[in-house]
Amino acid sequence: MTDGEEMVKAIRIEKHGDPDVMQLVDIDLPPPGPNEVLLRHTAIGVNFSDINVRRGGFYYPEPMKMPLTPGNEAAGVVESVGAAVTDFKPGDRVGYVGMHGPFYHFTGAYAEKRIVPADRLVPLPDNITDRHAAASMLKGMTAASIVEHLYTPKKGETILIHAAAAGVSLLLVQWVKHLGANVIGTAGSREKAEVAKAHGCDHVILYRETDFVAEVKKLTGEGVDAVYDGVGKDTFKKSMDCVRPFGKLVNYGNASGHVPPIDLLDCAAKGSLSVARPAVSFLVAKTENLRRNCAHFFDLIGQGVVKIKISKTYRLEDAVQVHRDVEAGRATGSLLIIP
Ligand SMILES: NC(=O)c1ccc[n+]([C@@H]2O[C@H](COP(=O)([O-])OP(=O)(O)OC[C@H]3O[C@@H](n4cnc5c(N)ncnc54)[C@H](OP(=O)(O)O)[C@@H]3O)[C@@H](O)[C@H]2O)c1
Repeated sequence: MTDGEEMVKAIRIEKHGDPDVMQLVDIDLPPPGPNEVLLRHTAIGVNFSDINVRRGGFYYPEPMKMPLTPGNEAAGVVESVGAAVTDFKPGDRVGYVGMHGPFYHFTGAYAEKRIVPADRLVPLPDNITDRHAAASMLKGMTAASIVEHLYTPKKGETILIHAAAAGVSLLLVQWVKHLGANVIGTAGSREKAEVAKAHGCDHVILYRETDFVAEVKKLTGEGVDAVYDGVGKDTFKKSMDCVRPFGKLVNYGNASGHVPPIDLLDCAAKGSLSVARPAVSFLVAKTENLRRNCAHFFDLIGQGVVKIKISKTYRLEDAVQVHRDVEAGRATGSLLIIP
């Protein structure tokens, strides 16, 4: 350790693999550079992208630089600031969602403390707890990119949301309901179906037991106005059959695996279907957009439109267990690491 460095605990991986490639180690943190802050994390968000980063092979084009610390989302308290930082001071409560560039670059949230560029930080209002911020910023910005940029449901329309009790989708369910649309959810268990219903789903289909295409057709006739699909490989092709003519299929995730390539002519055959695939990093790339979109989302939480469900918290040393739980699809809502 050199002058000004501080030793903190962090999760590190040296190579891609199963959850147990993650190890809790001591790392040296340098003091913040001129435009950076030293942030003490109080709550760290767990996201499926952390699993993809740890497993490797999903993102492209170049291999990730090792060793790396996973994690793209956290809240905390500013401990010190670089000489050129004017927006923040020690003691400020802040959160962040991603660094500059794609989410598989510049990870590092699974740590007690982290150096963060000041322009990536979002001030937290008094009514938003650190835990709520860390549990909802990345998932909330993903929901915003879908609901506000790709398909905004109109009053009376019907939206199909897969794995409706999961992290991003539980926010989507509530947001879509608030806009006056009907929500059909799918869920992997009866317990998850209850959670989805309690958050606004009008109907829930147990999609591991029932043919969801037939159920959707039974409920809607010619199909839903849009599908929001974070499950990917197992649901995508069938979801194409759930959309009404000129409707939209938004695939935002791949919890079951990568969606196979599609032939554009299939979109014509399926009723002039539009397909979209967002990447939340584009919504939050510019600092003003990041802060404006987060402020809007925090307002929705403040108004009670969106409730944040934190189903379980873990310690930093439990990182292996939290990844096992996510991979087994055990969680509903959000999971947090409390360092
Ligand atoms: N496009 C973007 O910018 C963006 C941003 C954020 C997240 N995402 C992606 O969106 C997806 C959902 O993220 P999330 O945070 O909502 O995930 P999550 O809370 O971990 O939930 C994933 C859910 O998917 C279902 N699932 C189906 N097959 C699965 C499998 N083989 N393994 C694990 N779960 C499976 C499970 O629900 P059931 O038991 O109900 O089936 C599970 O609860 C992920 O692929 C994530 O990478 C994309």
